[in-house]
Amino acid sequence: MKFFIDTANLEQIKEAQALGILDGVTTNPSLMAKEGITGQDNILQHYVDICNIVDGDVSAEVISTDFAGMIKEGEALAALHPQIVIKLPMIADGVKACKYFSDKGIKTNVTLVFSAGQALLAAKAGATYVSPFLGRLDDISTDGLNLISEIRLIYDNYAFETQILAASIRHTMHVIDCAKLGSDVMTGPLSSITGLLRHPLTDSGLAKFLEDYAKGN
Ligand code: E4P
Repeated sequence: MKFFIDTANLEQIKEAQALGILDGVTTNPSLMAKEGITGQDNILQHYVDICNIVDGDVSAEVISTDFAGMIKEGEALAALHPQIVIKLPMIADGVKACKYFSDKGIKTNVTLVFSAGQALLAAKAGATYVSPFLGRLDDISTDGLNLISEIRLIYDNYAFETQILAASIRHTMHVIDCAKLGSDVMTGPLSSITGLLRHPLTDSGLAKFLEDYAKGN
């Protein structure tokens, strides 16, 4: 299972990268705005800065909602760095743009996916990644994890190569449940990754080991 961090915060990306378990980064316009990254030049430079921190794929989202605009923006983003993945919204022109980029061998991430039918379309269009937003489904009392299971079943039925990128992860249990269901990738905040480290028995066990060592040394 690949671990992506869902942030545009460079310090958090560095912290996750330093753990040695980071496989990539996802961003979106809201996450960029949260870090105060505005203006075309600053936004593009920020993507390059992220690529220079991590080894893996970095999703950069287009703002255009029409096919021509998505192609123009996506090509400019792809030219920034070989690690850039073009993130496209799940709308008709986004599906068309996904097909266009996948035919050219450019990686894509179809985002804002909330149903199995949408995920099927993304796979048909050759998406590298599909991003079902499980936390946002949970927020409206709909079982986000069930969507991951449905997509896994459908993709396995037809050996689609599109990777399931479980997005809108909110906490460690989402990560563990997605791993059980065979999600290829998860993207979440730093806390959803570092939270996996913690167990009180690890802490008390280590304290005891160190205490016993100190007695004889
Ligand atoms: C995915 O790529 C999105 O950036 C993200 O996971 C959305 O998460 P949120 O629902 O916490 O905003």
